[in-house]
Amino acid sequence: MSDAREHVIETFQEEHRQTRDKCLELSDAIEAGDLDRAEELVHEIDVAAGPHFQYEEDALYPALITFFGEQKVKELVAEHDEAIEAAETLADLTSQDVLSKAETQEALRALPNIMVHVSDCDGLTVYLEKADDEVFEDIKRSMEAANEQGLTLTEYDETVRPSPEEIVA
Ligand SMILES: [Fe+2]
Repeated sequence: MSDAREHVIETFQEEHRQTRDKCLELSDAIEAGDLDRAEELVHEIDVAAGPHFQYEEDALYPALITFFGEQKVKELVAEHDEAIEAAETLADLTSQDVLSKAETQEALRALPNIMVHVSDCDGLTVYLEKADDEVFEDIKRSMEAANEQGLTLTEYDETVRPSPEEIVA
């Protein structure tokens, strides 16, 4: 395996595991009514997911066009919208001092939209690993650039995030 290939796949999957663990802890914190910890975790997810979504949309998802075609990749990108929306809902709710029962339910309904995205995204690895070495060099460069930029998911969405059409162009 080339260095870039190994690095990209390991990093990609490790980031999913870290977000998985934060989501599970966040679910417990919401259920326990620990909004201070919940707010911290939502912020940590926002920080970690920004560069992750950025390199996925910049280089990783376009590399899947060869397997799935443009339409399916556009749909994959559109699925990011749901995770972003869920992150915004969770940020709003957990910034409050206390949650009503209905708000707690709303938070617990939003969170799985991030959780399922993590597992769906990780599953793409089974096709991605069939890509050429140059593709992994490209993704690695994109990963480094996104980490260097260090935008949170919210900042990325509000600033440089391209549309699904631009991503598959
Ligand atoms: Fe991902």
